[in-house]
Amino acid sequence: MPPPDVLVRYGGNLPRYTSYPTAAQFDATVGAAEADAWLRAVPAGTPVSLYLHVPFCDVLCLFCGCNTSVVRDAGLRAGYAELLIDELQRVAARLGPGRPVRHIQWGGGTPTTLPPESMCAVMETIRRLFAVEADAEIAIELDPRFLPADYPPLLGALGFNRASLGVQDLDPAVQAASGRIQSLEQTEDCVRRMRAAGIGSINVDLIYGLPYQTVEGAGDTALTVADMLRPDRLAVFGYAHVPWKQKRQALLPEGALPPPAERLAQRARIDAALRSAGYRAIGLDHYALPGDALCHAAETGTLRRNFQGYTVDPAPVLVGIGASAISSFPQGMTQNVPAQAFYARAMEASPDSLPAVRGVCRSDDDRLRGAVIERLMCDLRVDPVAMGLSHGAPASWYDSARPALRQAEADGLVVLDGSLIRVTEEGRPFLRNIAAMFDGHHAPAGVRRHAGAL
Ligand SMILES: C[S@@+](CC[C@H](N)C(=O)[O-])C[C@H]1O[C@@H](n2cnc3c(N)ncnc32)[C@H](O)[C@@H]1O
Repeated sequence: MPPPDVLVRYGGNLPRYTSYPTAAQFDATVGAAEADAWLRAVPAGTPVSLYLHVPFCDVLCLFCGCNTSVVRDAGLRAGYAELLIDELQRVAARLGPGRPVRHIQWGGGTPTTLPPESMCAVMETIRRLFAVEADAEIAIELDPRFLPADYPPLLGALGFNRASLGVQDLDPAVQAASGRIQSLEQTEDCVRRMRAAGIGSINVDLIYGLPYQTVEGAGDTALTVADMLRPDRLAVFGYAHVPWKQKRQALLPEGALPPPAERLAQRARIDAALRSAGYRAIGLDHYALPGDALCHAAETGTLRRNFQGYTVDPAPVLVGIGASAISSFPQGMTQNVPAQAFYARAMEASPDSLPAVRGVCRSDDDRLRGAVIERLMCDLRVDPVAMGLSHGAPASWYDSARPALRQAEADGLVVLDGSLIRVTEEGRPFLRNIAAMFDGHHAPAGVRRHAGAL
């Protein structure tokens, strides 16, 4: 464990750097007009990836930081799917016919809350409007407690080949405090049904830092999941406590949240458990079995980071469809209207325009900083001088980051080898802090726009 002064030095609130600039830089000066122009500017033949957001869940988990709500009315859920189809048509009209698609990700929320016929209709629309490649990755997030009986075969028939299941922690006391009661049997049953339906790759999400979570409990959860479910990949998230943004989190017993040193110890125990079970650590918070494409990408320097976390998807354009969905283009990023009711209103009010309402343009400086941050988050190494050269910047471009880098070296988090920065294993949990040294927009300490770094 790092000494206490290191924990103090690397505390504070930080982004997860799933993009750079981060969503904290989005504002209303960028919106539908930019989304329109940037879609039309994608060169013919350039592949795009699709992200479809479904903001509904059957129940709300108290820890959840995502844009979700409970909507039980099947008509409303079907109506939302109609809007997704409408938005896909608007996007396809701007991209032109035959646009190649290699990655489709459904997230939320819980996308299986859409009625099966709605899911079919959206997937048919995608296949009609885009040239979905034969070996495209088609992935979906699931809640194992609420997977309708007919859904796994439907997903198999629609070509889905990857599913992410939320598990978080198996300890009943943690589950009760977090408002998410889920037995191991429920999860096992979900995995069995998905595999039987031909969904080849299973991912599991775990969280540490939840109320009443312990080092032993977190480690036991990781070992049990690795042994009993043998997922291809795991994402191990530190609980992001942002009650000023997500009111439901205020219902968690704050006094039972583990402090930073305890969180770090939980993370370390999960890490040891998963490595001992044969998994490889990927970037900040992912694990994969050795034959997995994520491992191959991490070993060959081709791993990418996007809003969904780590990916092998190299497409330069990601188009987000649905309420709050974010799109990424070489020129910048745009985000759709966040609240589902307002998204619906925006779609209905202007039938020809896109529902993007905020975003950010990327400057040349953003592109350089973003490239350095992405390589750090993916490869745990980067040469900022070489990266600067390839972006036309002098070696002095990151002089202001050098004192912090030297301190990080003294703390054992990085090794500075000429202009090469190598993040050590001890530094892996602090990747966000090291990335933040290259963040030209990061707000001064104490500004509460992100969760705690540790
Ligand atoms: C978008 S959610 C979808 C989960 C899925 N609907 C389910 O119920 O399992 C994906 C993952 O985000 C993670 N997550 C959600 N809120 C979080 C928070 N506040 N801090 C850290 N991770 C969080 C959880 O691990 C969750 O499984």
